[in-house]
Amino acid sequence: MTVSPAESTPWWKSAVFYQVYPRSFADSDGDGVGDLGGIRERLGYLEQLGVDALWICPVMRSPMADGGYDVADPRDIDPLFGGLAAMEELIAAAHERRIRVTMDLVPNHTSSEHAWFRAALAAGPGSPERARYIFRDGRGADGSEPPNNWPSIFRGPAWTRIVEPDGRPGQWYLHIFAAEQPDLNWENPDVVADFEQTLRFWLDRGVDGFRIDVAHGMAKPPGLPDMAKVDTKMLVHDDHDPRFNNPGVHDIHRRIRKVIDEYPGAVSIGEVWVDDNVRFGEYVRPDELHLAFNFRLAETSFEAADIRDAVENSLAAVAPVGATPTWTLSNHDIEREVTRYGGGAPGVARARAMALLELALPGVVFVYNGAELGLPNVDDLPDEVLQDPVWERSGHTERGRDGCRVPLPWSGTAPPFGFTGGEQSWLPIPAEWADRTVEAQLAQPGSVLALYRTALELRRTRPEFAADGLEWLDGNADTVTVRRPGGLTCVLNASNAPIALPEGELLLASGPLADGALPPDTAAWLV
Ligand code: GLC
Repeated sequence: MTVSPAESTPWWKSAVFYQVYPRSFADSDGDGVGDLGGIRERLGYLEQLGVDALWICPVMRSPMADGGYDVADPRDIDPLFGGLAAMEELIAAAHERRIRVTMDLVPNHTSSEHAWFRAALAAGPGSPERARYIFRDGRGADGSEPPNNWPSIFRGPAWTRIVEPDGRPGQWYLHIFAAEQPDLNWENPDVVADFEQTLRFWLDRGVDGFRIDVAHGMAKPPGLPDMAKVDTKMLVHDDHDPRFNNPGVHDIHRRIRKVIDEYPGAVSIGEVWVDDNVRFGEYVRPDELHLAFNFRLAETSFEAADIRDAVENSLAAVAPVGATPTWTLSNHDIEREVTRYGGGAPGVARARAMALLELALPGVVFVYNGAELGLPNVDDLPDEVLQDPVWERSGHTERGRDGCRVPLPWSGTAPPFGFTGGEQSWLPIPAEWADRTVEAQLAQPGSVLALYRTALELRRTRPEFAADGLEWLDGNADTVTVRRPGGLTCVLNASNAPIALPEGELLLASGPLADGALPPDTAAWLV
């Protein structure tokens, strides 16, 4: 699916991407873990939902210490997900339905089971094998203190001391994430060349682009200085954190972009946890990433002022460099929006309203699997099923991200709700989700799924969505009203009382109107 040179607007400019967390989407082989065959079997569902592209979280060979973000071989698919043949079949089947496929690549680190890391452990200090990672001698007389004070994002220190081949306690290696995810040394030409090979490997197999994990990582500051203030919050994005957003990262992105540009139509999307608008915008300059996730909306509560602020800042970050804005309400690392907005029926109503607002904005939208079903977080998973490395690394004080990764309920009246033909899903699905299955929602005209399907169809087909740009219309302090140049108005009521609808023909509302007025926790599209 290449784009002809005559087509000047790239396909992704206003695309809706559907994020598949593969372990949790659908299982085709009965082992309780989702896989690529499961995605292929559900392509009809995705086509009817109306998404343009998939972002599939990592499916490469992995011991799964961090759900696949610990990659042992970046140019092979893990047997858990069906192996390389299953990926090739999925790409072909998705393309037949005009759905593009993007993969998640992890350049910042490998698995500790990667052949390179094993070789580095065996080869000893000062070897070329060690130089592909970030090994240092420890501090203190006997080297028993870590080389600096950096914490891991997943808690505990960012350094682990190894035992040298001769049996003595030895050097330390850096891992910004889990100990099973050693950071690569991007100053080493082997690392650069290998990543380019990986890009080409998948692009040659027809993938339409990549989500690039920790795209603000990779480059490290010279001398690896201590952090001024040690903050151990997960996925922190303090712009002065020396672990991330170092200037050298931009050369890395330029090199990646050169390879991607050899494949017309391919897109790169960076995970960029950078708050400052100017520094965020640097990642999407014309010769770097095509797109970068802006997480402001995904971190915002259901308060009109905060929502406006998130939208304004996301637009402001990309405008100076002429890049396309991106929107997302949740992903596999953060609390689901239904829960963030208060949970229960109000949480669902607000998530529905925010979906309409998000889909009314110019740019690219990412829908995290299960958002279209209005799923909440599951915050009472039994301790013994938790798998996020944060649970162990925090000494069982923080439960981590499993609560937003519970498998999707497809059909039937009891867990595992058609997710797997086996008896159990890898994380248990709550029995209360019986009324949220895809099957149940397809039968309910007012379901969250029905709303998403209608909204995506309107967004795709109505001319009012075509032109970029956004104007803020006056509303009261607790409402958000935006207008697109093509004539679409979206109004969201975050106040406690119904409000009058603006002028125009009602195209879609996220919930029932009350005597012609827009109730609280509701949004509407008008033309
Ligand atoms: C990114 C991923 C997250 C993963 C981490 C380490 O933040 O989204 O799931 O744990 O990178 O690869």
